[in-house]
Amino acid sequence: MRFHMNGSSDENDIVTATASAEHIRKFVFGGGADAPEDRLEIKIPEILQGAYSFYTWPCAPILAHFLWERRQTLMCKRILELGAGTALPGIVAAKCGARVVLSDNCILPKSLAHIQKSCLTNQLQPGVDIDVVGLSWGLLLNSVFRLPVLDLIIAADCFYDPSVFEDIIVTVAFLLERNRGAKFIFTYQERSADWCIEALLKKWKLHASTINMDDIGKQSGVDLLEFMGGHTIHLLEITLNEPE
Ligand SMILES: C[S@@+](CC[C@H](N)C(=O)[O-])C[C@H]1O[C@@H](n2cnc3c(N)ncnc32)[C@H](O)[C@@H]1O
Repeated sequence: MRFHMNGSSDENDIVTATASAEHIRKFVFGGGADAPEDRLEIKIPEILQGAYSFYTWPCAPILAHFLWERRQTLMCKRILELGAGTALPGIVAAKCGARVVLSDNCILPKSLAHIQKSCLTNQLQPGVDIDVVGLSWGLLLNSVFRLPVLDLIIAADCFYDPSVFEDIIVTVAFLLERNRGAKFIFTYQERSADWCIEALLKKWKLHASTINMDDIGKQSGVDLLEFMGGHTIHLLEITLNEPE
């Protein structure tokens, strides 16, 4: 199996609005006709003309719906979100009972403050109900060593710049090594036919497999194509290679 990052698109083309002011975007999970009371509403503050981390990319709601549909398995699970941005998947996981650490680049204090705002908008108190930390891919800083034991690492749309693919993989390999049995589950958007992480997976002794996305969103009556906006998005799982 190859893990090319295929396709082509402009990574800014999901931004169709022109407003620079902050607005709140609402995401609804569940609430279908068969279980209308089983419903979660998340409100995400966004600034469309801000940096990458201030709005919710198409990969995020897809990962969030995937987590919502496995919410029974999330209770008390310890989850780290990398490159969280507005943090929709991690916030959904926390609302489903997981103990979540949200992270983004430690050199972007405004992005980390925006993550905290996303948490507070959803009645999650940083430091109490959820944690927010600066964690830069490829750098094994104190924040990485201070992380709790993890069951799951998640990320939405972090493979968008090939110059940092190895940094992400190094961080993931290190964390999977420290947390045997944990998995890294992430969504990525195809942007270039030339991008591929296969050699990096081999180098860092990792194994990747694709996760079928056909049923994601069905419980909430959501069509994933609505979020994809014409892009191709994949859901992958990475684990440590089992010793032979
Ligand atoms: C395309 S955005 C995706 C944001 C969010 N996960 C989503 O899907 O809406 C990429 C995110 O990765 C973060 N990021 C970029 N480079 C990083 C690095 N070297 N270390 C940690 N985070 C980084 C950005 O700040 C941004 O939040």
